[in-house]
Amino acid sequence: MSISPPPDHSNRTFALAITGASGAIYAMRTMAALLERKCHLEVVISDYGKRLLHDELGDKASVNRLREYLVETYGDAASRGTFEVFSNKDLGATIASGSHDCEAMVIVPCSMKTLAGVAHGLSRNLVERAADVMLKEKRRLVIVPREAPMSLPQLKNMVLCAEAGAMILPAMPAFYQQPKTLDDLADFMAGKILAALGISHDLYPKWNG
Ligand SMILES: Cc1cc2nc3c(=O)[nH]c(=O)nc-3n(C[C@H](O)[C@H](O)[C@H](O)COP(=O)(O)O)c2cc1C
Repeated sequence: MSISPPPDHSNRTFALAITGASGAIYAMRTMAALLERKCHLEVVISDYGKRLLHDELGDKASVNRLREYLVETYGDAASRGTFEVFSNKDLGATIASGSHDCEAMVIVPCSMKTLAGVAHGLSRNLVERAADVMLKEKRRLVIVPREAPMSLPQLKNMVLCAEAGAMILPAMPAFYQQPKTLDDLADFMAGKILAALGISHDLYPKWNG
């Protein structure tokens, strides 16, 4: 039996932001899945996003060895695509401008703080500015929030983002696909994100009724 490689999406550029909400594994699996499909990623990681990578995945997932971590964890296919990491302080980075050709953005995971900043158009840092650009340009913005329980302001901020055109895709893996491992749960979330970005995938079995 031959296993065909994931489809090639090499002409596609996405912004991917990692902020300080629990679920670093979702960010890593999403990055790997997009890179396997030869996408180009423009990555920005908040300070608490960096802390989260360390706290949840350990030293091996530090920002200066992300490529190595992705290949060690998900295999050589994770080096098929390219990515660039921008400082969250760099409001002059490509993704801070609507004239830059970046088709969509995902914030995974998205903290309640960043959610609030996006909901209110604050643009205090590159994550918030790039998200604001997606909204003003009417491009796809996928927000993967995580908190439990949620306050009324947090719920209202999700509504504000949804009203502005963002897709709210909660970090809420399902169990109908009978996951056996944490990787199965991460595959599910990454698959949902890829689908939201318009990329077909087989990261989890489709429901057949
Ligand atoms: C290990 C860890 C886990 C956290 N988990 C969450 C979370 O699930 N959701 C959330 O909204 N904030 C969480 N926080 C708090 C945020 O990181 C904090 O509010 C931070 O200021 C967010 O900043 P950022 O959006 O710029 O990353 C967590 C913090 C740490 C250190």
